[in-house]
Amino acid sequence: MNKMRVAVFASGSGTNLQAIIDAQIQTIEIAVVFSNKSDAYALERAKTHNIPVEVIDHKGYESREDYDSEVIKVLEPYKLDLIILAGYMRILSPVFVRAYKGKIVNIHPALLPCFPGINSARQALEYGVKYTGVTVHFVDEGVDTGPIILQSVVEIEDSDTEETLLQKIHKVEHQIYPKALELVSSGQIEVKGRRVLKKS
Ligand code: GRF
Repeated sequence: MNKMRVAVFASGSGTNLQAIIDAQIQTIEIAVVFSNKSDAYALERAKTHNIPVEVIDHKGYESREDYDSEVIKVLEPYKLDLIILAGYMRILSPVFVRAYKGKIVNIHPALLPCFPGINSARQALEYGVKYTGVTVHFVDEGVDTGPIILQSVVEIEDSDTEETLLQKIHKVEHQIYPKALELVSSGQIEVKGRRVLKKS
């Protein structure tokens, strides 16, 4: 089977990138790691594994659309089949989402549609839910609204702080992101409306 050529987008530490690299998914080739921040530790992880990196600082661009158009241009030569968002701290403009329609996935540290946006672990603690979790989903033009590929539950205990909860969430993320990417890249699933179903 042909491998899917993917880009991993990360703005920070890149522990999810590391989990994806370590999982050695047979149906994926990480063609490039992209960041909007030149000091993102994710870039170091990529370099350690001889994965090409691209950085475009978002400062100095008039609009999200201008920035995303530049990103599209820079990534064009990589001939990508899939964009994997792994802690990419920018909202994608419709320009980008349309350019890679149905080919962008994201991981979110909550059970969507609960607690979209930022600081999801804090939102879950403040709301007082007993369970939160992790969602891997396709990206559409909304914020954290696309069809859901996989979810996993994390229990919130009385002793949990934002920090301990984030640690538990991260652990689960590192397990389910590679699994979800394997499903996506091996053609085992199909999207029907809002539902992502296993092909029979
Ligand atoms: C993760 O919690 C992910 O759910 C969110 O950003 C965080 C990235 O963490 N979208 P890391 O950089 O992969 O460690």
